[in-house]
Amino acid sequence: MSSVATIKRNVIPPHLEVKGGCPLSGILKVSGAKNSSLVLMAAALLTKEKLLLENVPQLTDIEVMSEILSNLGAKLTKTNNSIEIHSEFIHNAELPYQLVHSLRASFFCVGPLLTRLGKAKIPLPGGCNIGARPVDEHINGLKALGAEVEVKDDVVKAQVSSKNKRLHGANITLKYPSVGATETIVMASCLALGKTTISNAAREPEIQDLAKMLNSMGAKVFGAGTKKITIIGVESLRGTSHCVIPDRIEAGTFLIAAAITRSPLTIGPVIPNHLGAVISKLQECGCSISHHGNHHLKIIPRDISGVEITTSPFPGFPTDLQAPFMSLMATAKGSSKIKESVFEKRMQHVLELNKMGACIYLENNTAHIKGVKELLGSNVKGGDLRSSAAIILACLSAKGTSIFTGLEHLDRGYEKFEEKLTNAGSIISRKFEKITPQNSFTSNTISEDNINTQKNAA
Ligand code: EPZ
Repeated sequence: MSSVATIKRNVIPPHLEVKGGCPLSGILKVSGAKNSSLVLMAAALLTKEKLLLENVPQLTDIEVMSEILSNLGAKLTKTNNSIEIHSEFIHNAELPYQLVHSLRASFFCVGPLLTRLGKAKIPLPGGCNIGARPVDEHINGLKALGAEVEVKDDVVKAQVSSKNKRLHGANITLKYPSVGATETIVMASCLALGKTTISNAAREPEIQDLAKMLNSMGAKVFGAGTKKITIIGVESLRGTSHCVIPDRIEAGTFLIAAAITRSPLTIGPVIPNHLGAVISKLQECGCSISHHGNHHLKIIPRDISGVEITTSPFPGFPTDLQAPFMSLMATAKGSSKIKESVFEKRMQHVLELNKMGACIYLENNTAHIKGVKELLGSNVKGGDLRSSAAIILACLSAKGTSIFTGLEHLDRGYEKFEEKLTNAGSIISRKFEKITPQNSFTSNTISEDNINTQKNAA
């Protein structure tokens, strides 16, 4: 739907109006981790008993994953931040294109479906705004466990043809420590016959959270969080209740919000060792960060200077905070350099930040940043989830008012983002209004290319 069509319908697309220059104060609450919740929801398919997940953030990605599980035949009961999932009667092993296309994490269902139904059929998730996002490591892992997997016309068809319809253990070495592939293999091998080892496994906290829940269901997963994970297959898994870990990426985003507005702030709950690389870079560039009470951090920004960052798998600097940190470096003293080494197309925010007066030069996947005194409020747009958060942080620090479009990206991964920031002192309003003579300026400035109408999965 183009903006012309939107304007013709006399409705300005949902956007945020952000007044820059407001200091933050108080406590910013951190929600449950999106990237943990999504894989834990898929893992619910591994048991016929009820699984209760608590501290689940209310996000559009969670809504889509809920729809996917229901589509497979699972029964879901949701309260605010809890979801009970009952997968006893799942009967469908096929996922529809429109759901898979809007949520790559739907691929996490393949391993559990193979285990429960002996088959799975799912369109290739395909690329998104940050890169090609192949799933070859997932597929190679499933094949090593005994699944027959065929990819034809962009559709993945997998089945377990062994007579006992059961996957078998294997020794698997990943060519890259892929988070998703590690999670797919851990889930698929929990109920396989025999032992599985994963070498060069991803070490992200979300994998540790998955292993903790699976073990509470009766699985035998050892070494999660290290490069080598061992899984001893068991006969079945029981239900459990599990509280999702705090979202380390949201927590890091809030720490950067404090730094970019030069505001002392407390954020929590957090698990500090999930944020080691982020905390040390914030300290290096001029913030003091200390533990505050249980599970909270207090940040006091001082003069912010440029630093160098290269993103890498955990425990390195997380790729998901590369864009927000670049917004901070845009108004830091001196120069800085940020190299994105995980995804090939994760620099959407550079164009928008430069529109606001930043001085960023992109050379392949490395951004060379020269700090400027201040950014200027502008009409800006988000191209993916984390670039959207980065641009809004930049708007918080800019002189004047900005209009941000791209809420369909932001709402995928940040729960009540502008509400939390407003409670801490920002002046942000979410607008969805009819055009009137008073606001016709807004409608004119939200130009064609600022209307993000496609949902892109990251
Ligand atoms: C997870 O994506 C997260 N998503 C991403 O968060 C996060 O950025 C990423 O891990 C890295 O930390 C969820 O957990 C739902 P990968 P995932 O497999 O599993 C290549 C966000 O903003 N690769 O570790 O897809 C891949 O192309 C999202 O919350 C293969 O080559 O990440 C990429 O270059 C974005 N073959 C690199 O590995 C494969 O089979 C890292 O991907 C799989 C991945």
